[in-house]
Amino acid sequence: MSKKKIKEIFIGSNNKGKLKEIADLLPKSLKIYSNLDFKIQSPVETGNTFEQNSLLKAKYFSKKTNKICMSDDSGIEIDILDKAPGIYSADWSGKKRNFNLAIKRVYSEIFKKDKNWKKKKITARFICVLTIFWPNGKFISKTGKIEGRISNSKRGKNGFGYDPIFIPKSKRLTFGEMDPEIKYRIDHRSDAFKKIKRFF
Ligand code: IMP
Repeated sequence: MSKKKIKEIFIGSNNKGKLKEIADLLPKSLKIYSNLDFKIQSPVETGNTFEQNSLLKAKYFSKKTNKICMSDDSGIEIDILDKAPGIYSADWSGKKRNFNLAIKRVYSEIFKKDKNWKKKKITARFICVLTIFWPNGKFISKTGKIEGRISNSKRGKNGFGYDPIFIPKSKRLTFGEMDPEIKYRIDHRSDAFKKIKRFF
């Protein structure tokens, strides 16, 4: 870790939805590099936890670019599915990253557990671990969360991934229906970001 404020950073993600959200959290004065400039392949995520995968990605991209790098590992945990898909949230969307497919799978797995699930509250949360990795090998990782539930149907066109089926606690709209500005203020990524923003 360094006491100096970070002036430029590489965001290690090939997911455009995440890239946009992370870039929107960062100060406008910061010079941001991403794979839109470098075209580096993502590493294989061999970790067993969000923490391990987040660190693995930040370290990998920092070694490749020799820059300070920030990576995110995130996903959704659904309690009735024993916290699946969890770190496999992206995998459930298949090779083509088709989230209609992932959402269909969520609904079918929940149905297998409880045929009456639509009458119940299916609790879930989004988790995000953000890691900053410096070229000297120092790093910091912080976790953010948002609790909520799975909606009975897919709703809304905003956001990405599982946004159309996640309703944050004490809200009525899914993340997919919400104004993105409101989502950014309360979601797992901004919760994690609050804990590392002093570096910028
Ligand atoms: P990974 O961190 O690249 O392994 O991917 C995490 C996956 O979790 C993403 O592909 C998304 O589908 C899902 N995910 C993470 N954050 C969000 C979010 O804010 N909204 C919707 N889906 C998300």
